[in-house]
Amino acid sequence: MAEDTDDRLALGKQRGSHGRQQDEGVLVIRTIAMPADTNPAGDIFGGWLMSQMDLAAGNMAARVAQGRAATVSVEAMQFLQPVKVGDEVTLYAALTHVGRTSIRVHVDVWARPRQSQNGKKVTEAEFVFVALDENGAPRPVFDDG
Ligand SMILES: CC(C)(COP(=O)(O)OP(=O)(O)OC[C@H]1O[C@@H](n2cnc3c(N)ncnc32)[C@H](O)[C@@H]1OP(=O)(O)O)[C@@H](O)C(=O)NCCC(=O)NCCS
Repeated sequence: MAEDTDDRLALGKQRGSHGRQQDEGVLVIRTIAMPADTNPAGDIFGGWLMSQMDLAAGNMAARVAQGRAATVSVEAMQFLQPVKVGDEVTLYAALTHVGRTSIRVHVDVWARPRQSQNGKKVTEAEFVFVALDENGAPRPVFDDG
């Protein structure tokens, strides 16, 4: 069934698709940046954003894996613009690769000031997950893997 990389990616997208596909991917999380999420300078703490990104990517990975999947790496994390308290923060996930046991998800984060019509991309990264069996060992994403 899933013989090569393109097949696996196509099958993974069938499992992972939910909501409306947009240029940036599928909208997985939309939330509001709150004062409790700030760093000492008063902007939003990068660690909070990274946690939201891991949640968004992990949500897609679990759909594709149809089971437990653990984050094994985060690559190319870029903080492009600061996020301010009150911004509407939207996380988009796009499945980019399905290996034998691994799943790669690109996450884009956009922030829109509370009273503005326009947002901009503030952060992006590539997350890699590994599908796990009941013992926490890597397992094939597809049964025939
Ligand atoms: C996930 C885990 C079981 C993988 O174990 P492992 O021995 O590295 O597994 P493997 O070497 O068989 O690699 C499994 C897959 O992950 C990929 N992989 C492993 N390390 C990787 C890395 N650093 N970057 C990208 N891909 C990686 C491999 O290429 C392989 O992909 P494929 O099967 O699609 O070809 C193990 O690393 C682990 O338990 N890590 C902790 C996970 C965790 O707790 N995450 C939450 C952090 S808070």
